[in-house]
Order: sequence, then structure tokens, then C-alpha cells
Amino acid sequence: MKKTFYVTTPIYYVNDVPHIGHAYTTILADVLARCHRLRNEPTFFLTGTDEHGQKVQRAAEKAGITPEEQADRTVVRFQQMWKKLNIANDDFIRTTEERHVRIVRKALQQLFDQGEIYKAEYDGWYCTPCERFYTKKDMEEIKCAECGRPLEQIKEANYFFKMSAYQDWLIKYIQDHPKFIQPDYRCNETLGFLRKPLNDLCISRPKSRLPWDIPLPFDPDFVTYVWFDALINYISAIGCFDDDEKFRKWWPASYHLMAKDILTTHTVYWPIMLRALKLEMPETIFAHGWWLTGEAKMSKSLGNVVDPLAMAERYGVDAFRYFLMAEMVMGQDCSFTEDAFVRRYNADLANDLGNLLSRVLKLVQANFEGKIPQSGEEGPAEKTLQGAVLAAAKTMNNSVDNMRFDLGIAAVIGAVRECNRYLEIKQPWTLAKLPDKGALQTVLYHACETLRIVSALLVPVMPDKMRELRSILGLTEIESSMDNLATWGKTKGGTVVGGMTALFPRIAVEKAKPDAPKTGPVPENAGRIDYADFAKLQLRTAVIISAEKVDGTDKLLKLQIDLGTEKRQIVAGIAKYYKPEDLIGKKIVVLANLKPAKIRGVESNGMLLAASQGDTLKIVTLEGEIPAGATVK
Ligand code: MSP
Repeated sequence: MKKTFYVTTPIYYVNDVPHIGHAYTTILADVLARCHRLRNEPTFFLTGTDEHGQKVQRAAEKAGITPEEQADRTVVRFQQMWKKLNIANDDFIRTTEERHVRIVRKALQQLFDQGEIYKAEYDGWYCTPCERFYTKKDMEEIKCAECGRPLEQIKEANYFFKMSAYQDWLIKYIQDHPKFIQPDYRCNETLGFLRKPLNDLCISRPKSRLPWDIPLPFDPDFVTYVWFDALINYISAIGCFDDDEKFRKWWPASYHLMAKDILTTHTVYWPIMLRALKLEMPETIFAHGWWLTGEAKMSKSLGNVVDPLAMAERYGVDAFRYFLMAEMVMGQDCSFTEDAFVRRYNADLANDLGNLLSRVLKLVQANFEGKIPQSGEEGPAEKTLQGAVLAAAKTMNNSVDNMRFDLGIAAVIGAVRECNRYLEIKQPWTLAKLPDKGALQTVLYHACETLRIVSALLVPVMPDKMRELRSILGLTEIESSMDNLATWGKTKGGTVVGGMTALFPRIAVEKAKPDAPKTGPVPENAGRIDYADFAKLQLRTAVIISAEKVDGTDKLLKLQIDLGTEKRQIVAGIAKYYKPEDLIGKKIVVLANLKPAKIRGVESNGMLLAASQGDTLKIVTLEGEIPAGATVK
């Protein structure tokens, strides 16, 4: 058995800036690598960028720059993002680097010399964005199976890799190695794909089309197909054909991580390439699900992406990492909403974990001069808590091996909840009033010990916050062996704890994204605004002079209003609730200092106030005598 751990992410195309999908795979790899490092296994974590191919060339053309400039500009976005998200990768490979290009050419030459590559005339269909060839027989309609876009008919000479010769071998390999493709259903998907005859893989493109790509070593008129080039990154970065010692140390990879969109390239092309190159198979190819917006995959072309930096800035890097790891059932798709984020953050981090810490600190400060007390006698409640915490440690540890961090995290937060329940039962704030502090000592010791174990288990997910928590508890090192986490009672009585800090301040619901429903409870004090904030709004009374529907919409009305000193036009989304003629003469309240905007091409200079709930909407109107233009406050 290999004693090192090697994990990779896909190398991301530089046609696009990173979004939450890229962030998820990279954070997942980072968490996994950190877990293995904490087990004292030599670990290598590789990520990088895919800088060749049609997609990048197209993006460059669109931006009016060279592919090189496109790559150089975009790669820094990925590198900065990983830095910001606290990604501790050991290497970052760019496919335009000489160290990679050289190995791609060596691999191609070797396969060519072995007679695995031949030249043939290709006559078929091609999806340019996906760079996939289709023959008549593997096409149900003239659409790309991957992206659904129409295909272009092409006829050209190209080089082919004899992939079909390995089909039977691959089927058997997959069947004999149940851990090779994970989760199981992805393994079945691959076997399903392999039920149809496998075509040879076209591994070249004419140089005239993609001059920026890697030239074939045996024919300078052709360049390398971007997928053949990209997959090689997993071995070029660790010294294949170059640095035997390094290569033997890390290869085979323990995990290739990716989403299901690129399953086949990893579970069919890549194993066959490796086999033909006479290299060992990776241990596990793991394909997770997609982050969705509603029902749709998040992608830049759909314009529905979530920017990880904005999220990290708004709520903190560790909270963002936590959410992604806890929320997605590993393997399955998951819909992203900021509401779900805020809900989980407030429940798990602010209420459960943050609250436990602040309760414990307060009591230790007030009753034991800031020193964790020794435990007194243990009873059944203590045993129950110990059992829950140690079971959580076990589940978290298993989740590293079976790739279910969502379950591991749920178990850890479950243990935190158990501890809060224990405090509710034991009522340490009441025990503190007793002259004999024995019972209080036991309770606080158990809460501190829970926090010691829980924080160590969550270090890979929230490295900074958990280190902060541990240093508050006077814990100077991160437990690196499971032994410490599977043994109760390692906290030393007398350890000095730090002062109070709000590790995870509660997010007031109002701080969530602007379009979040505002129907929740009025926020607690932290979420309320100052009068000065309110005073920025110029609310004025106005009278509706005329109203008509905005052409081509069934929701909008165009209103002419009298604001006392001036007449204005505003557009309001109230057509479903009011007939235009019923509005004339109504006295309404308008936000007068809102910047003008065009709504469906119609100028709107202000906004009327309305109350809504479910399917009901009522505009705010005034009773009695009040002139137009009066201030509302
Ligand atoms: N360059 C290829 C990969 C070559 S690897 C040898 C590529 N690049 S990509 O930029 O399109 O990245 C695809 C990967 O980004 C996915 O497999 C996944 O890891 C991540 N994600 C991109 N969008 C995603 C979601 N909406 N949800 C989850 N992960 C997604 O394909």
C-alpha cells in the first residue's frame, strides 16, 4: 500500500473567472488534504489551470486579446481566489508551462512509437464549445450530448488514439475495483456508457485552427486535443518521465476530484491513456454533484453564478467553507441560496457552536478566574455526552475515508447540540450559586473537553476560526492523531482561557441578499438600523394623476404623480392588483430620492410604497387632508 496521499482538482479553464462550483471542488480537495496531513500522511494537493483549446481561444478573441494574455489575466483570478479561500495547495500547474508541455509531447511520442496512434480522415460532426466529435452512430439528433448545442459538420485528417482496443480491459478493471469510481452510481453510469462500442479518440486538431495549443511531436501541422493535454497534468506536475523519485512518491493519485460534468473524460479516456502509457491507475475518481441555481446548473453562460469572493467577504471565509461542505450531500446536486446559507450559519455556527463557547467562557471567567476546572465526579449525563462526542469523532474520521463530509460535519454539530442540551439539563448558572463548586467544575470541564474535540475535528473545514477557538481555550497545538480525539479527558485542568469574542456573530436576516423575503421576525438589536440610516430616505406624499399599463407587460403600471413641487412619472409592479382607473386621485407615499431607472424601457423616477403578503398587495394610502409633497417619517 502506498503511504502517501495525492489529491487533485480538475484544472480549470481560463475562459472564465472562478465561481462557486470551482470553489467547491477546490475547498473539498483542501479539506481532504488537511485531514490527511493531520493524520501525518505525506500529502500532495494539486490544482491548476487548463489554458489551451477552443474555449480559451474563443474567450480571447471575444476580449480582443491573445490566448496568452487571456490565460495570464485569468490565472491570477484563480490563484487569488484560492489564497483568499485559504486553499493550501502544494502546487499549481498551468498547462502552458514548459514542464507540462514537455511531458505531453513525451507521452504522445511514446504512444506513437508503440503504434497506438494513427492518422485518418475524419468525416463527422463536431461540437466546437465542447470540442467533441460525433459519428452518425453515436448521435441521436444533430445536437451535442454534452451541451445540447447544434453540431457542425466537418471533414478533416486527424490523429486517433486506439482507445477502442482497451474497452474490454477497462470494463473488467472497473468491475474488479469497486473503489475506482465513486460514488457507486457514477461507476454504474460509466459502465452504462461502456455498453456502447467505444470509438477511438481523436487526439489532434489542425494547427491552423488552434495555433496556441501543444504541437504534436510527430507532426508539426497538428496540435494536441485539449483533453489529452489537460489530463496529463495529473502526472506531469509530479515528475512523470522526468523525476522518478518524485513520481514514485506520489503516483498513483489517491483521489481525482471533479463534478459529474467531466466524468467520462476521467473514467474512460484517462484510465485508457494511463494503461497505454503503462502507468498505474489512480485509486479513486470521485465525481460530486452540481451546485444549482434553482433547477439549473450554475454556469457563466447562464448568468446565474454565485461569486465566492462576495460570499466570503460578506460572511467570512470559514463560514463559507463550512456551508459548502455541510450543505451538499456529497455526490448529489445541491441548490444554492443565500437564505439557506444564513439559516445554516445562524443555526450551526452562531447558535450552537458560538453560543456554547461564549456560555462556557463566561462561566469559567466568572467562577474559576479564567482557568478550566478539573472534572469532579461523573454521572450518567456526563457519560452520555462523552459517548456522543466520541461517536462524532469516529463519524468525522470515517467521513474522510468514505467522502461524506456532510455526514461528518452533521455528527460534529450534533455533538455540540448535545453539549448545549447537557448545559440546559445541568444549569451551570444555577450551580454557580452553590457554595460547593464540585458539580459546576464537572459541567464546565465536560463542555471544554467537548469544545477541544469538536474544534479539532472542524479544523480542516474552518482552519482559522477553529485555531482561534482553540487558542481561546488555551490549546496550543492541533491534535494530529485520532487517538487524542478518540480519548476523553485530554484537557488539562488549570488551563487559562482567553477573553470573550464573538466567533460567529449572528447574521441579522436583513443583512442577507437584498431580494431575500423580508417576512421573518424583526431582527434582533444587532440587525437594527440607526435613525440616521432611515433619515436618508425621502418619503413624500403624492397624488396619482393618471395611470396606464406599460405595453407588453401584465405587471407594470405607469403612473403620473403630483409631488407638490413637481410632477413625476413612476413605474410600479401593481397591475395585477389595481385597475388603472381605480388609482386616480389616491394619496400615496413615494420614496422620492431613489435614483431614476428604466423599467422595461420606461423611465421611473421614484417608488411607491406598498405592503404585500403572499398573493395580496395593497398600496400605502393616506386618509384625511394632507397636501402632496408632505414629508413622511
Ligand atoms: N478544463 C476542464 C477540466 C480538465 S481536468 C483534466 C474543465 N474545466 S472547467 O473550468 O469547466 O471546470 C469544471 C469543474 O469545475 C467541474 O468538474 C467542477 O469541479 C467545477 N464546477 C464547475 N461548475 C460547477 C457547478 N455548478 N457545481 C459544482 N462544480 C462545478 O472542465
